[in-house]
Amino acid sequence: MYRVEVQQQTHFDNDSTDAPEQLRLLSEILGGHSAAVLSGLGIGAGARCWDIGSGDGSVARWLADQVGPTGSVLATDLKPEHVPVHPQIEARRHDLLADSWPAGRFDLIHARLVLMHLPRAADLALRLVEQLAPGGVLVLTDWFCDCAVGPVASPVDAYTSSIWWRYHDAVHDLGALAGMDLGWAAQTADVLRAAGHDDVTVLHDQACGRGGTPSALLARLHSTMLEDHLIRAGLEPGDLAAIRANLLDPGFEMATYHTFTTVLRAPQQAS
Ligand SMILES: C[S@@+](CC[C@H](N)C(=O)[O-])C[C@H]1O[C@@H](n2cnc3c(N)ncnc32)[C@H](O)[C@@H]1O
Repeated sequence: MYRVEVQQQTHFDNDSTDAPEQLRLLSEILGGHSAAVLSGLGIGAGARCWDIGSGDGSVARWLADQVGPTGSVLATDLKPEHVPVHPQIEARRHDLLADSWPAGRFDLIHARLVLMHLPRAADLALRLVEQLAPGGVLVLTDWFCDCAVGPVASPVDAYTSSIWWRYHDAVHDLGALAGMDLGWAAQTADVLRAAGHDDVTVLHDQACGRGGTPSALLARLHSTMLEDHLIRAGLEPGDLAAIRANLLDPGFEMATYHTFTTVLRAPQQAS
């Protein structure tokens, strides 16, 4: 999935046995938000779309249904094996950082939870704007992880609070070590506007984090996928068991990341 590599260890990877469930939960958490944003952009029959870091391809699939037989969706990923087969989708193995970018211009370029994981996200975003057709739209969705608020939203005892802070800090430290920009989501619009792009809007969303919800189940899965790192960071197996129990308990609520979706529309005619 995110290909988080620290000390030669890969923590998230689309090849891992947990990846299908991880990607499915991401789509469950964000699918409604993405569909609401994308359906307001006028992407219709014949559009040429590029979905970057496609994951399970659920957005590519949604777009393919909109563009119909005269349109196309290029779904690229480091590991595109989970992208569904569809006559309008071309799934392509592609590293946004290292490979040459697809030729031609796109009516829509979409990347969800991708740029926040990559170095030089601002440069990538500005390069993507250059790939838009006249009137085309760039849609970048990321989670703002540089949160001032605590990780737990419901009243809890001191032990539960302390293991959650340690879990939260260990996950953030790992992200920072892997090169993630935890604040990128909130800076995207400013970066685009500062480069002279006027038609930029930001849409916000925040999922519910009650025990048993998709966001809680994703955090629970991550506690397993990152277990070695969390133990090295000082959490005990009993702490992880308590965290996992919380995440199934509807009486417990964690704070979830704030979703920022930045939408840029290119001018109809090149200026
Ligand atoms: C967090 S997942 C998001 C998947 C999907 N966009 C979603 O929101 O459900 C990040 C995806 O980006 C892909 N990815 C990571 N680095 C990439 C790169 N340099 N080039 C292309 N894809 C990359 C990963 O393989 C993974 O599928």
